[in-house]
Amino acid sequence: MIRLAYGRMLRDRLDGVHGLPRARLDELARRFAGVQAEVRRRRGAGEYGFYRLVEQGETVREIAAFAEGLGQAYDHVLVLGIGGSALGTRALLAALRRPAWNEWSDDGREFFPRLTVLDNIDPATVSAALARIDPRRVLVNVISKSGGTAETMAQYLVVRAWLEDALGAAAHRHLVFTTDPARGALRDLAARDGIATLAVPPDVGGRFSVLSPVGLLPAALVGIDIDGLLAGARQAVERAEADELLRNPAGLYAALHWAADADLGARVHVFMPYSDRLRELAEWYRQLWAESLGKRTSRDGVEVHAGPTPVAAVGATDQHSQLQLFMEGPYDKVIGFAVVEEPDADVRIPPPPDDVPGVTPLPPDLAYLSGHTLGGLLRAEYAATATALARAGRMSCTLRLPRLDAGTVGELIMFFQIATGYAGVFYGVDPFDQPGVELGKRLTYAAMGRPGYERDAQPMPETDDADIV
Ligand code: PA5
Repeated sequence: MIRLAYGRMLRDRLDGVHGLPRARLDELARRFAGVQAEVRRRRGAGEYGFYRLVEQGETVREIAAFAEGLGQAYDHVLVLGIGGSALGTRALLAALRRPAWNEWSDDGREFFPRLTVLDNIDPATVSAALARIDPRRVLVNVISKSGGTAETMAQYLVVRAWLEDALGAAAHRHLVFTTDPARGALRDLAARDGIATLAVPPDVGGRFSVLSPVGLLPAALVGIDIDGLLAGARQAVERAEADELLRNPAGLYAALHWAADADLGARVHVFMPYSDRLRELAEWYRQLWAESLGKRTSRDGVEVHAGPTPVAAVGATDQHSQLQLFMEGPYDKVIGFAVVEEPDADVRIPPPPDDVPGVTPLPPDLAYLSGHTLGGLLRAEYAATATALARAGRMSCTLRLPRLDAGTVGELIMFFQIATGYAGVFYGVDPFDQPGVELGKRLTYAAMGRPGYERDAQPMPETDDADIV
């Protein structure tokens, strides 16, 4: 079970000047009663559909059967998707499969396929991927909830032609679409061309969808225990049924981050796991927090321009990159650490050479490392960094993960999703829409000549060609 250590959000555990006063916890607990009630009401009304992803028995059986049967015929899975249709899959692969998965031999991957996620349209990346992958051995999973996202559809057209060039009429057997059950261009294409499909539940938005077929299919194909993921997620949902704030970690995470922002101007929310395997999960979290909470208007239509800025970091690497700013820059941040209490690998730093005549002993500046482990050093660096930040009056909290397995990762993902749902209520915004990205999409359509968007193509005074050096 994941635990949240939150003491270092509080003034009496920092320098006595910065941080939230302990009494604020009582006020937040009272306010949380209303937040929980609102979330329950909205869940009842059909919002917050992601909570129900823990009850997908039939879907899980279907996906597992596909992964264990037909799925085994491929040695490369190529995911085409963007945003919420890609980041979660990346996070699962990094967290739950061996580091540098695609670089291992078949044996090293226990004969599960390689997995490539193309989440951009940069032609350099796309052409390199298609040059590297064997079209005869690939399963292409096109993921788009709307079934119409320009980037993913453009990728699809390119990849479909690449498959057809190599495989002719058999190309469709190398495709599976994950999309809305009824609507969108992908759904229509699937029906027309006889392409296998999986459904994204209509009440689950892209960035909340990693535990739906969006993430579960690619995960199962590379041998990740998807039952375990959902069991962990179920635990997070159960803990979030608690009405008492101090028994509800996701509620507390949201309440403290919101209060730090609202009361103390700490509107930069860093997620800094001390684990390379959670780097990608930090990027997934960044999208979840940013796209859900950054809004122009509140639920009741008032212009608020709300939203914390999430920052992804990783320990110890970012101690040599961003920590200087966290320690001495503006008091506008909360640092959310994550540590793995029982990592499944460690590496011993060799002990000093015996006192052998002729063997030069290590200089004292290196000798202190001898006999420790890399894991021990990583843990010491986390503890030292958290303490140093606290002494400097910088707020932080820590998610303690017992180990990195499917259960813990599923719990962590659901924990963050639930926390985001609560944070939406604290901030007073709708965490499930993203109206701010619409104008850019329309201008892209206009630039690419999509019918119906001609008016958007009018010359724009904001063009930056006029003032340029
Ligand atoms: O969270 C979201 O809703 C977005 O990030 C979407 O996932 C992203 O825009 C891709 O959308 P779609 O899955 O419809 O292609």
